[in-house]
Amino acid sequence: MNIKMTAPCIFGLEKPVAEELKQMGAKNVTSENGRVFFEGDENMLARANIRSRYSERIYIVVGSFEAHSFEELFQGTKGLEWEKWISEYDEFPVKGYSVNSDLFSVSDCQSIIKKAVVERLKSIYGVEWFEETGARHQIEFSIIKNLVYMLIDTTGAGLHKRGYRPQANDAPLKETLAAAMAYFSRLRPYHTLYDPMCGSGTVLIEGAMLVNNIFPGTKRNFSAQRFEQIDPSVWDEERQLAESLRITDTDFKAYGSDIDENALEIAKSNAERAGVAEYISFERADVRSFKPKTERGTVICNPPYGERMLTSSQAAELIRAMGKAFPQKHGFSYSIISPQEDFEELFGRRADKRRKLYNGMIKCQLYMYYK
Ligand SMILES: C[S@@+](CC[C@H](N)C(=O)[O-])C[C@H]1O[C@@H](n2cnc3c(N)ncnc32)[C@H](O)[C@@H]1O
Repeated sequence: MNIKMTAPCIFGLEKPVAEELKQMGAKNVTSENGRVFFEGDENMLARANIRSRYSERIYIVVGSFEAHSFEELFQGTKGLEWEKWISEYDEFPVKGYSVNSDLFSVSDCQSIIKKAVVERLKSIYGVEWFEETGARHQIEFSIIKNLVYMLIDTTGAGLHKRGYRPQANDAPLKETLAAAMAYFSRLRPYHTLYDPMCGSGTVLIEGAMLVNNIFPGTKRNFSAQRFEQIDPSVWDEERQLAESLRITDTDFKAYGSDIDENALEIAKSNAERAGVAEYISFERADVRSFKPKTERGTVICNPPYGERMLTSSQAAELIRAMGKAFPQKHGFSYSIISPQEDFEELFGRRADKRRKLYNGMIKCQLYMYYK
């Protein structure tokens, strides 16, 4: 069965998402702002859920059409083959969003879509009432510039929920973003990774998982595991395949430090849960006196922001101190995510490359130094 799918992501992560999907064998991979479309079979659906590091979830694309009126929305929705995925007893709640479109009332769209799916399924299953006691098929619609996409969620809890971080410190980085920072830094199995403000350890853990080919979803569940159209053996096969790809003979090493003892304790237990504790050493240290332990190193970090953890003058002072402490020598690269507009001035060096990224709602840049 060929399935059209889409993987939404944080703005700025379309490239790593498209690349990882292609590596997994996805077909017809195309990107637009904040999401990547692709095609594949049931195995690809399971594989994308199990292996994706950078996307937020995996949707089935049931169809798309243009709609300027509620009537067009109703007819367009009713015309789609919902019965391919939704069986007679399945649950099918509806949610979604609309931007820059004639149909802007999300709650009205929601009830019209629900009604249209019900009408469609009534005629298919010959019943008047749906109990919705079966597997949850969350329907999600997106309407952007009057173009409607009708999706079914296959993931459940977002893909950033890897399962290793039940606890985080005050301002944790989203796992998908931390993984992408490691990707953009071109972290390799023969590198040494440093995060001198490691908090709950997300960058170190995602970095270790990336270079050792440990896939984030091998141990968690996904809502499509309950879809009757996908044989349970598909999930078992894909989990086994993902586990078999793990690399075990790397020289990878990571060093995490933080000023906060409590954050370090959390980071250690998160690393253990993620199965990567063997690669990471932790110690309490002030970034102001950062001393790398190796001749070469990849430093990736996310300093505290003025808004959340420090006053803005303290945050600025810390960036100045980092600029002085981080050695400017051959073999060292730095990737630092910050919302601070005058970051480069404070750090004292012009970045070799900048990337716009969002950390939650906060507009940031990844300042990269590698020359
Ligand atoms: C935004 S958080 C990092 C979050 C981390 N990436 C995570 O995923 O949990 C910033 C961290 O910097 C640490 N920090 C603040 N001042 C520091 C300093 N002078 N030296 C080292 N760490 C510091 C804080 O304790 C905090 O854990």
